[in-house]
Amino acid sequence: MKKQTDIPRLRRDLLAWYDRSGRTLPWRIRPEDREKGALPDPYKVWLSEIMLQQTTVPHATPYWRKFLSEFPTIDDLARADQDKVLAMWAGLGYYARARNLHKCARVIASEFRGKFPQSEKELLKLPGIGPYTAATMAAICFDEPTNIVDGNVERVISRMFRVHTPLPNAKSELRNLAGTIADPGRPGDYGQALMDLGATICTPKSPKCEICPWSFECQAFRHQDQANYPVKVKKVRPVKYGAVFALINDNQILMRKRPEKGLLGGMFELPGSPWTAKSPDNPLEFAPATRNWEKCAGQVKHVFTHFELRLDVYRAQGDAKLNGIWAALDKLSDYAVPTLTKKAIMAALNE
Ligand code: ADE
Repeated sequence: MKKQTDIPRLRRDLLAWYDRSGRTLPWRIRPEDREKGALPDPYKVWLSEIMLQQTTVPHATPYWRKFLSEFPTIDDLARADQDKVLAMWAGLGYYARARNLHKCARVIASEFRGKFPQSEKELLKLPGIGPYTAATMAAICFDEPTNIVDGNVERVISRMFRVHTPLPNAKSELRNLAGTIADPGRPGDYGQALMDLGATICTPKSPKCEICPWSFECQAFRHQDQANYPVKVKKVRPVKYGAVFALINDNQILMRKRPEKGLLGGMFELPGSPWTAKSPDNPLEFAPATRNWEKCAGQVKHVFTHFELRLDVYRAQGDAKLNGIWAALDKLSDYAVPTLTKKAIMAALNE
């Protein structure tokens, strides 16, 4: 007969590990400080959770600090210009998230007098707050016993129970399993502990099972096939091609703004061709001006969620008589320039 999962011990051992070894993060109230009466600030937690959805703690933390120093309160963020918010977000990717962040700040400022609602159900109604963020904020900030599931948690649970169903189909199965263990006693600490466990111990490669507080129950550890989990459906990303043009005039470069709606909406980019399944036959027809365009060596590659992009970069000397947005190269951080465009500019400047 299959051994029963010892849920009380899993909860106890995970929380004991978190008390000892959980990360100290600038938006986090550690258990020992909570005991002294410190409370999490929902604004700081929300900002961190939105930023962390697609990136790691080390990458997101400087952005989080910059946002807080520029916008100390949610009312400050609500009052900010969208272009400024996007410019500060540049480098974090998934720019729709930044627009929703700003929208959410405005709703909280105007309809909730600057205070987040205190339940998972109400949080879910806000722009940009999905099931993950609502569950996480409700648990961390308001002690609601929710079921927090992110990519880290999916990995831990899939190994623990050797879930053979491939992701993304396995999502509901993993969520149900996670829900059976979630601790109603210290829901915020438990959720953060589980995410920390996934980020620092139960890592995608070379998990540190020898120091894992859950290895006593982990079925993948028992079978020594941790690397096979989570099982994933192989994603094949189509490749798209395009050409961009770096027209440089002294210390300035010609940019254009993308349409507000759609991928990289409202961001700044180099003028160029549409992105298509085949390289453009005659890329120069998309150049912003007739020049002696020089093709830079190599292609700029960038991976989006649904496709991979390969761009040829052309450069030429410009003159400021051309209409358009001339951005100072040493002031690019004032503009919402996505990483893809930064790579293309680097390619053009390094020629
Ligand atoms: N990743 C995203 N949010 C997190 C949190 N609150 N704790 C640990 N890891 C996280």
